[in-house]
Amino acid sequence: MSFAYYDLRSESITPSSDNQFTQAIVEGLSRYPKRLPSWLIFDDRGSKIFTEITELEEYHPAQCELEILHTHKQVITDIVSKDRFRIIELGAGDGQKTLVLLTHFIQNQLKFTYVPIDISEGAVKNLVTSLEAQFSDNEMSVKGLAADYFDGLTAIGLNKDQRNIVLFLGSTIGNMELPEAGKFLRKLRSALNDGDYVIIGFDLMKHPKILYSAYNDPMGVFEKFNLHLLDIINNRLGANFTKHHYVQQGQYNPRTHAVESYLYSTRKQVVSINAIEKKFSFDAWEPIQTEHSYKYTHHEIETLATNSGYAIVKNLFDTNYYFMNSIWEVKK
Ligand SMILES: C[S@@+](CC[C@H](N)C(=O)[O-])C[C@H]1O[C@@H](n2cnc3c(N)ncnc32)[C@H](O)[C@@H]1O
Repeated sequence: MSFAYYDLRSESITPSSDNQFTQAIVEGLSRYPKRLPSWLIFDDRGSKIFTEITELEEYHPAQCELEILHTHKQVITDIVSKDRFRIIELGAGDGQKTLVLLTHFIQNQLKFTYVPIDISEGAVKNLVTSLEAQFSDNEMSVKGLAADYFDGLTAIGLNKDQRNIVLFLGSTIGNMELPEAGKFLRKLRSALNDGDYVIIGFDLMKHPKILYSAYNDPMGVFEKFNLHLLDIINNRLGANFTKHHYVQQGQYNPRTHAVESYLYSTRKQVVSINAIEKKFSFDAWEPIQTEHSYKYTHHEIETLATNSGYAIVKNLFDTNYYFMNSIWEVKK
């Protein structure tokens, strides 16, 4: 057993690098309507607030996926454990749901390596530390990588001596628009070997009122999460956003099939970003879109798998049919 952590982010241009960060902010605040990509929120503090979100009763994507992994852990084990295998998790976050599978594999005395990859350094570091504290006496090797998805995959080298099982949980795929998700999955397929598996968590389309409750909790955790983006821009680029001059609301948009979260400027104001010597004007109640969470239909998931070069092995659901974990095999 071994437990290791590596930070690959300084070795390449990743979304966390200053260049790409600055570019995303300038582009996002210059367009109309203003829109910032959701990966910007996941610094160490952002990842911690996201963990608070996953603990909210209203946030069904996390609760439903946890239920699926608990209920179907043996089904997943039977599928993945035919040969020697390695679990690679893209955007692992705090890895709490994955823990259900890892614990089950260990109880079944399976030997495997777990490679959590996340752009958030704090998230990966904490995850490796907590796994070491729990599993140091077991046959599990952990290699945590603070890296962009594909930099992480390149770094580990996906040779054919063991089956790769890629986890992409938490409805993270929903942060991409549908064509972007297809592009991402085709790129992932070309990095993997014939016969490897991917397990993806899709949040399914459901009553818009349920979606509304999930993204507008009464405790204001979602608002805190979205407002944290303004802190990040202030800290990294010397901007002067005043957080209490913005409020957050999320809603399902039937035209984009996604829950979109917005920060609304409560007044007319101008924000300066010192590091790039730029100013951005806001009208009263002008929005910045900060999140996009696509809600899938079964048909879209099947089409996405086929068009991206995978065969669906099994679809797993929670009791409400709110969420689907779909297991796909790479076909080459
Ligand atoms: C929606 S959260 C899901 C976290 C966790 N999988 C779960 O189910 O709770 C998305 C995660 O992906 C990570 N992430 C976003 N963009 C990334 C990228 N380009 N490369 C690596 N990780 C990324 C974020 O830091 C965050 O931890």
